[in-house]
Amino acid sequence: MKPQVVRECAELHSVVKSLHLQNLRVGFVPTMGALHAGHISLVKESLKQSDWTIVSIFVNPTQFAPGEDFEKYPRTLENDLALLEEVNEKENIIVFTPSADEMYPKNFHSYVDVAGAALPLEGTFRPTHFRGVATVVLKLFNMTQADAAFFGQKDFQQVQVIRQFVRDLNVPIEIQMCPIIRETDGLAMSSRNRYLSPEARTRALCLSQSLEKAREMILRDGCRSRRVVDAAIRAILAHPNHSVDYVAIVDPVTLLPNEDDTIQLPAAILLAVRVDDTRLIDNLLIESEN
Ligand code: PAF
Repeated sequence: MKPQVVRECAELHSVVKSLHLQNLRVGFVPTMGALHAGHISLVKESLKQSDWTIVSIFVNPTQFAPGEDFEKYPRTLENDLALLEEVNEKENIIVFTPSADEMYPKNFHSYVDVAGAALPLEGTFRPTHFRGVATVVLKLFNMTQADAAFFGQKDFQQVQVIRQFVRDLNVPIEIQMCPIIRETDGLAMSSRNRYLSPEARTRALCLSQSLEKAREMILRDGCRSRRVVDAAIRAILAHPNHSVDYVAIVDPVTLLPNEDDTIQLPAAILLAVRVDDTRLIDNLLIESEN
C-alpha cells in the first residue's frame, strides 16, 4: 500500500495529535531520501516497535557547507515511496516531505549549538555540519512528537551527538542505533555510493577492509592506537586517488582517543575517506575481546 504523504507541518501536527490521543506509539526515521536497504532496515525496526512510523525525507541545507554536495545530493522521491510501499503492509507509515520554506521560513534565526561529541572527527572537517543536523533533528522531533527515533550506526558520530543533545536538553524521545547494513562485499550502504564509478566502488572496499584489519590487529596484538591507524591509512592511500580525512580509534561516547595511545575496549574505529571526489565514512565498534 502507498504510504500516506504529508507535506506541511500543520497537517503533520494534526495527524500526530490524533495518534497520541489514541495512545499509539510513534516511531520516527529521519532521512534525506535516496533510500536504500540501510534506511529500510531502520523503518522495519521502527515498525516492529511502534504502532505508526513516520519517515521524514528532507535534504537539509543547514548541514551542508558551501562547496559540499547539497545541490547534487540525490532526490529520488518516487523511488523512495516505492521502497516504503513494499514495507507498508499494515498501512501505518506516514512520509513527511516538508519544503525548505516550511522548515526554514524567512526570519529563521535559532540553531542548536552542539559541542562535546560534535567537535572531533567530522566536527574538524565539517565544522558547521552537526549544528545543522542537531537543529533539523530537534525540529523534526518536535514536529513528530515521536516516542522513539531510529538512526543507523553508519553515522556513528551523528548518533552520539543526537544522544548528547537529547540528554542535555531533556528532549523526551528514545534514541535507538541500528546496525550498519553492508553490501555483500562489505561496502557500507550509503546514498552517496551512487556517486562512485564501478571502478571507484571496487576501490571503496578499502574502507571496510581497513576497519576489519584494524579490528584483527587490536584483538590479536592489543596494538597501540598509532600503529593500527597508520596501517589503515597506508592501505587506503595505496591508491593515488584516495585521501584520508581521518582514521581514529576513540571512546564510543566522547569520540576522543586515549591520550596515552592505548586502546581500551569498548572502542570505536571511525574513518572518513575521499575516493576520487566522493567522501565516504564508515566505522566499526569493538565491544570486547569475545
Ligand atoms: O542521517 C541523515 O540522513 C541526516 O543527517 C538526518 C539525520 C536525516 C538529518 O538531516
